[in-house]
Amino acid sequence: MTTQATEQRPNLRSQRLNQVTNEPHTKLDVLVKAHAPFETQANFARFVVAQYLFQSELVSLYNDAELTAIVPDLPARCRADAARADLADLDTDVPAPVAGALKNPTKAQALGWIFVSEGSKLGAAFLIKRAVGLGLSETFGARHLGEPAGGRAEGWKNFVKTLDGLELSAQEEAEVEKGAIDAFNRFTVLLEQAYASAPEVA
Ligand code: HEM
Repeated sequence: MTTQATEQRPNLRSQRLNQVTNEPHTKLDVLVKAHAPFETQANFARFVVAQYLFQSELVSLYNDAELTAIVPDLPARCRADAARADLADLDTDVPAPVAGALKNPTKAQALGWIFVSEGSKLGAAFLIKRAVGLGLSETFGARHLGEPAGGRAEGWKNFVKTLDGLELSAQEEAEVEKGAIDAFNRFTVLLEQAYASAPEVA
């Protein structure tokens, strides 16, 4: 273990996760914006396709008994149904699954994925404001970006508190981080796929 690298690591797990995902998050943010999702409803629909694909790949994690024992409201946090309803609102077909979905993660990897999925609800606060400009809302077309029951900030704070309080081995610690990075990579793949599967309407 190189002490220098270790010393610069934040104490809280959630902050370490923020640190290791900072670069992929920035890249994804740029990529999302490059597809101009708020220019037209058609462009936004492709973004929803990516969100739906990502969320649908995580349904089994959100309903996993071992994970729910750690985060009791985990099943209620899942947004696959909301994203599916958004697709219907936007007259967009439910996409076929894309090869390469997460399979049999360890508990620690799964937590890294959930961290990213839950964290994406923070950015959603900004995104939904833009979606309103397209005539959409948290009850039509942009449901999956809506304020979670109990509040966006509260939901995130509670999740992070639980995550930060878990006792994990060094190996599990590495797995959580890998899970979070893999989740960003996966979202990137799904986003590219979503926009490739339908030409952007100018
Ligand atoms: C699939 C995962 C994610 C996606 C697609 C995503 C996407 C985005 C996008 C596009 C923005 C820019 C919103 C705007 O400027 O209008 C944003 C902002 C933001 N995201 Fe994410 N995000 C993801 C994961 C996360 C995670 C894991 C966290 C926190 C741990 C997070 C925290 C934030 C915050 C706080 C903002 C507000 C502005 C900022 O600080 O950059 N996001 N996100």
